[in-house]
Amino acid sequence: MAGEKVTATKLVRESIAEQVYAIIKEEILCARRKPGEQINPRELAGELGLSVMPIRDALKQLVGEGLVVRKPWVGFFVRSFSNQEVREIMEVHKLYELYCLEEYFDKIDREKLLACLERCRKRNTLTEGEEFERLDDNIHSLIAQASENVFLIRSYNNIKDLIVLIRHLIHGQTHKANEEHIALLEAILEGDKERAKEILRDHIDRVARSVYS
Ligand code: NI
Repeated sequence: MAGEKVTATKLVRESIAEQVYAIIKEEILCARRKPGEQINPRELAGELGLSVMPIRDALKQLVGEGLVVRKPWVGFFVRSFSNQEVREIMEVHKLYELYCLEEYFDKIDREKLLACLERCRKRNTLTEGEEFERLDDNIHSLIAQASENVFLIRSYNNIKDLIVLIRHLIHGQTHKANEEHIALLEAILEGDKERAKEILRDHIDRVARSVYS
């Protein structure tokens, strides 16, 4: 029946769009596509051996999440940030994590913190870039996850994707960030909440400043 055929075709298209979405998102979050870079649906369709339709569907979904922007008559671009947007996003980032440190300090997974601390200390043997980003992400997420609040974690994760993009704008400062992470983890493991909050606040402020300085 014609109706069934249409539905099946639509399902296939949707599932292809889902996969394309995952591919592009991964490329953006791993900085293989840089903020401000144009994404050409036709070119991408050619590379992936697909029609333009699912590529456009995937890009629209990414526009909805704020990772891609669409400029009328021009096309799709990886999101870039004004200085003010960086400040605002980092303010929200700080708000979530300082709140979680304050309210859920004792619930942060100490075992996982310790594992992160060991990875930080072995830092010189780690590769730059993606490995550092994963570690950074793990450390900050552990703090937010301590809340066990699904709504809080969901909104935190939304902003976290943007923070990943912002982090790509900073170059060659991973050594400083690593030292700050070590100090933060040590303070939490020693049970010193006030010091941990101070270190975290300074860390996020410094990262924000280094983007627009
Ligand atoms: Ni960090």
